[in-house]
Amino acid sequence: MTEEYRNALAAIRAVVEVPQTATASLQQAMQIIRDRLPRYQWVGVYVLNGEYLDLGPYAGAPTVHTRIPVGVGVCGKAALTGHNQRVADVRALTNYLACSPTVRSEIVVLVRAGDRVVGQIDADSDEAGAFDEGDERFLGEVAALLAPLVARLRQA
Ligand code: SME
Repeated sequence: MTEEYRNALAAIRAVVEVPQTATASLQQAMQIIRDRLPRYQWVGVYVLNGEYLDLGPYAGAPTVHTRIPVGVGVCGKAALTGHNQRVADVRALTNYLACSPTVRSEIVVLVRAGDRVVGQIDADSDEAGAFDEGDERFLGEVAALLAPLVARLRQA
């Protein structure tokens, strides 16, 4: 993991330790990723509520996809299959929900509390093929840090 990723993780660890609302911590964590990693144009949390993924805190332009049914789009596919998704070129996909016309690549990493999927981190880049295994590992570590906070945002 390069230094910018390690530094982003350290900053997120510090945010998680601050006693504040789950929403505030997740918002700051998303902002850290977007500010420090130049290929991340949009990054946000989706919370799994039953058959839907509900948009939580995010950094980047507002999206119309605030509620995604499980199975629909890249996010829905991750939730349905239980597998992280990496899409090098979103233009090659049919099952894709466009957040912005400039987006070329996307990564979705599931957030688990124990064995249970509680949500996901979704990131978009305007560059094709922006995300590799290193990004997946990085977001996996972010997901582990944020899991208790994401779990708190779930609807009862
Ligand atoms: N592209 C995602 C939708 C979320 S927006 O990118 C923020 C998808 O296909 O599921």
